[in-house]
Amino acid sequence: MRKSGLLVHQILHTLGDMVEVGISTWDLEVAAVRMMDDAGAKPAFKGYYVPAAGERYRFVLCTSINEEIVHGMPNPKKILKSGDIVSIDTGVSLNGYFGDSALTVPVGEVTEQVKRLLKVTEASLELAIDKVREGNRLFDICSTVEDHVVGNGFSIVREYVGHGIGTQLHEEPQVPNYVDRRNENPRLREGMVLAIEPMVNAGKPDARVLKDKWTAVAKDGSYSAHFEHCIAVTANGPWVLTRP
Ligand code: MF3
Ligand code: CO
Repeated sequence: MRKSGLLVHQILHTLGDMVEVGISTWDLEVAAVRMMDDAGAKPAFKGYYVPAAGERYRFVLCTSINEEIVHGMPNPKKILKSGDIVSIDTGVSLNGYFGDSALTVPVGEVTEQVKRLLKVTEASLELAIDKVREGNRLFDICSTVEDHVVGNGFSIVREYVGHGIGTQLHEEPQVPNYVDRRNENPRLREGMVLAIEPMVNAGKPDARVLKDKWTAVAKDGSYSAHFEHCIAVTANGPWVLTRP
């Protein structure tokens, strides 16, 4: 999993550096396909069946712009312009082991409020990463994300959640970015790997899915940010597999 995690990091880092005014999200997809091929890795998202959509996903990346929360699809007609933000989410498998990570990048000049949205969302992930320790419980992670985001005046998307990860992209347990008392609250044990992925709206939390069956957007049209890492529980504390 460390190998696939580092490859995902390398791909996302390269794509993040490519982001500038005038490129399309399809340009990012093409570059990602190439990097996965060169590394001999399988894309984790392409061909992945999502019951809510009722079909398989067709791309190696999700590229979600502005009010798009997740599952935005790469498209040559989607040209990035100054003031946009773009979430790039991708996963790979190497030798059957998965890695999955996401980041949100500003395009050109964005407003101070948008900068704050990105900062708060990323910080909520970092604070949660520090809770990925043996003896802690799942809700310690959920509440850490929730408290930081809500405390800073933004809102947590509830329809999409993080997940365990390993020999499948999505494994148990679900990792919501809020405390859901209907769920179990397992203790974290050495060897578990969690993909934590806060999705945060600047406005109201409500989401809806576009007619394309995939793209989830903030109902009120407010900007939405997304960051994700895979973190292993080790005897020495959290190990972020998706960064060096
Ligand atoms: N965004 C999801 C995650 O990070 C995975 C994408 S589902 C797919 O877990 F259908 F797009 F592959
Ligand atoms: Co994920």
